[in-house]
Amino acid sequence: MRQPLVAGNWKMNGTTESITALVDGIKAGIDAVKTAEMVVCPPYVYLPMVAALLQGTAVRCGAQDVSDRESGAFTGEVAAGMLADIGCKYVIVGHSERRNLYGESDAFTARKFAAARKAGLVPIVCVGELLEEREEGITEQVVARQLDAVISLDGIAALESAVIAYEPVWAIGTGKTATPQQAQDVHAFIRGKLAGFDSKVAERVRILYGGSMNAANAAELLSMPDIDGGLVGGASLKPADFLAIGQASND
Ligand code: PGA
Repeated sequence: MRQPLVAGNWKMNGTTESITALVDGIKAGIDAVKTAEMVVCPPYVYLPMVAALLQGTAVRCGAQDVSDRESGAFTGEVAAGMLADIGCKYVIVGHSERRNLYGESDAFTARKFAAARKAGLVPIVCVGELLEEREEGITEQVVARQLDAVISLDGIAALESAVIAYEPVWAIGTGKTATPQQAQDVHAFIRGKLAGFDSKVAERVRILYGGSMNAANAAELLSMPDIDGGLVGGASLKPADFLAIGQASND
């Protein structure tokens, strides 16, 4: 059985005041989330504060990005070991905003993935196609290429201690969610592809959906057999919505 996972990607949002209120809101309602593992990914500078506020709760912390290097003269970078040191469990790598706005390649993303695992973090590796790629009918090729970069660098077994997030780029922040069937088709493709390497890994790895997931559409998406949770942007900034998505995966 794969435990559902709902991760909130707060992106570059928040202040000390608003983030304290957001965490308080999540803590106040977390008992209603029965089965899902809940994770929040604040901006780097707020991570220690959020980790402290969440101490003693079941909510885990994740970072939104990580360096591919271990330590040294890499101005502006944050190492996976530092994230582990301050109590992070997860880290997002290869988010489409990193890939498309900052030019991060498949190979670079794979190195970040490997660096995260080496430090004991669980990487959440994002894959997904642009609108024009979907329209061209090459969604599966794009997702396969993005996954192959990780598998060829870190090996198929690495995915057993990782999470995959399928995020169609056209659905992120647009209010245009993939239909449950569209998402399920790609999730099943991903699991099938992994099964070609190792059926046990394919059966165990959690594959999240991301892209305009919200309190209203979560239950239907999460009911699909290969959708094991969500990577949630906008809706994760509102405690009630984030918690409702977590509750949508209650048994
Ligand atoms: P969204 O973002 O839920 O606001 O579409 C999802 C993501 O970018 O992870």
